[in-house]
Amino acid sequence: MHPEEIITATLHHVRGKFNTEGSGHDWWHIQRVWDTALKIAGEEKADTFVVSLAALLHDIADHKFHGGDDTLGPKVARNWLEQFEMDPAIVDHVCEIVANISFKGAGTETPMATLEGEIVQDADRLDALGAIGIARVFAYAGHKGHSIYNPDMPPQHHATFEEYKEGAVSAINHFYEKLLLLKDRMNTDTGKKMAAQRHQFMEAYLEHFYQEWEGKM
Ligand code: ADP
Ligand code: NI
Repeated sequence: MHPEEIITATLHHVRGKFNTEGSGHDWWHIQRVWDTALKIAGEEKADTFVVSLAALLHDIADHKFHGGDDTLGPKVARNWLEQFEMDPAIVDHVCEIVANISFKGAGTETPMATLEGEIVQDADRLDALGAIGIARVFAYAGHKGHSIYNPDMPPQHHATFEEYKEGAVSAINHFYEKLLLLKDRMNTDTGKKMAAQRHQFMEAYLEHFYQEWEGKM
């Protein structure tokens, strides 16, 4: 199969699975990550076949929706890709990206081994920032039954992935436990520039939020 056909088949497969997702992990998240990843790949001269497949498959079996199991994503991705005739090194590369892409809390490093991995991780993280990131954090909190904000519950510094997975009690806490930490963890120059703008917008949003909370505006 031609690489373009493998991408199209993967696109259809993933879109079919994600059509009805209501937690901010819907098909449009995947589409945005794919678009952003290709934009960054263009600037950084990366392998766009690997970038496309990894972007499309990155959330295929996310630990948050599989009882915290973070080994399932790369297995499901491998299972899908092995039906095609392609270089096994490409399959390994894509699955390695899927296995390592996720944010795991403030105290856990999540380095990517290749440029393609760095690009897809940046694109995924950019979608957690800015106006879209704000929309997604509240969508996710609503989906989980968490509050918008609870001033009696201060944000936590999660030392381990386990703590992070069990942590979060409010949408606002998630800004401090993840979103505001991301700009300093971007990999590529393009990603860093985009993250800086989105970060600034979230800071302004939070300032407004607290002023309204206190009835000051
Ligand atoms: P990514 O897609 O960057 O790997 P996740 O899959 O961890 O991020 O999360 C997907 C979206 O849901 C992100 O926008 C993230 O900020 C949001 N999210 C994840 N965990 C929480 C949480 N505990 N509370 C609120 N939003 C969350
Ligand atoms: Ni994602």
